[in-house]
Amino acid sequence: APYDTILVERRGRVGLVTLNRPKALNALNRRVMHEVTHAAAAFDADPEVGCLVITGSERAFAAGADIKEMAEADAIAMYMEDGFGGWMALTRVRKPIVAAVSGFALGGGCELAMMCDMIIASDTAKFGQPEIKLGIIPGIGGSQRLIRAVGKAKATDLCLTGRMMDAQEAERSGLVARVVPAGDFMAEAMKTAEAIAAMSLPALMALKECLGRADEASLAEGLLFERRAIQALFATADRREGMAAFVEKRAPNFTHR
Ligand code: HXC
Repeated sequence: APYDTILVERRGRVGLVTLNRPKALNALNRRVMHEVTHAAAAFDADPEVGCLVITGSERAFAAGADIKEMAEADAIAMYMEDGFGGWMALTRVRKPIVAAVSGFALGGGCELAMMCDMIIASDTAKFGQPEIKLGIIPGIGGSQRLIRAVGKAKATDLCLTGRMMDAQEAERSGLVARVVPAGDFMAEAMKTAEAIAAMSLPALMALKECLGRADEASLAEGLLFERRAIQALFATADRREGMAAFVEKRAPNFTHR
């Protein structure tokens, strides 16, 4: 296999990336960063894939950046190699990504889940940004994405205290889209990803771009961006098929163009 720290598999139109460092609770070292972003980019480029799933194990999605690796790092090296900056490649993936989270999603693990488009969690999931307890702070978006996901009050609480929040609290506060029993979280995530992947791919990609604008642009800019995107989608064969299928009372058969 080309990868050491992850398992990669295509199931139908779903590209599945499984973090696989069980002894380290899937701690995110440099190698994991390179492999996850590489595998995700490959699925992004694969026309047979419509949606990605990133998951870990039942015990841990990921317990954060690899503290043993970080313990040796110095500031200049971190700066010169842009330590953690490589994770930004994941945000350039244009297809939807579902995070299937069970167990610990801490520090970089919580941040990785938040870089995905939606989180489906098992009822055992625990989220947190414990970096402050190590004398550091979040480094791949925790201080920015968490506040957008759960609001200032809870994000500040979590980041300043480093405490963990359980799946129910995460769902209540808007971090997590769905919580399902531990035994079902992968099936639920795969079923969801399959349903997404069956949609028209250009529409999915345009939709992901639009949802992304909500964080980046003013409302007026975002609305205009969305309108231009829907106008362009009238060019696809898929939208003709989708509308014809509705009128003919049958399921659409998208060809993804
Ligand atoms: C390296 C880790 C690790 C990590 C766990 N392990 N988390 N190794 N980096 N982040 C290793 C442990 O050292 C141990 O290895 C094995 O995984 C099992 O962990 P235990 O601690 O024995 O398990 P448990 O008692 O169940 O506790 C689970 C835990 C705890 C609560 C998740 O492991 C923990 O607090 N981990 C650190 C969480 C954290 O601080 N994350 C933020 C990292 S900073 P051995 O060899 O002893 O068996 C960060 C910065 C982000 O993420 C910046 C951008 C990426």
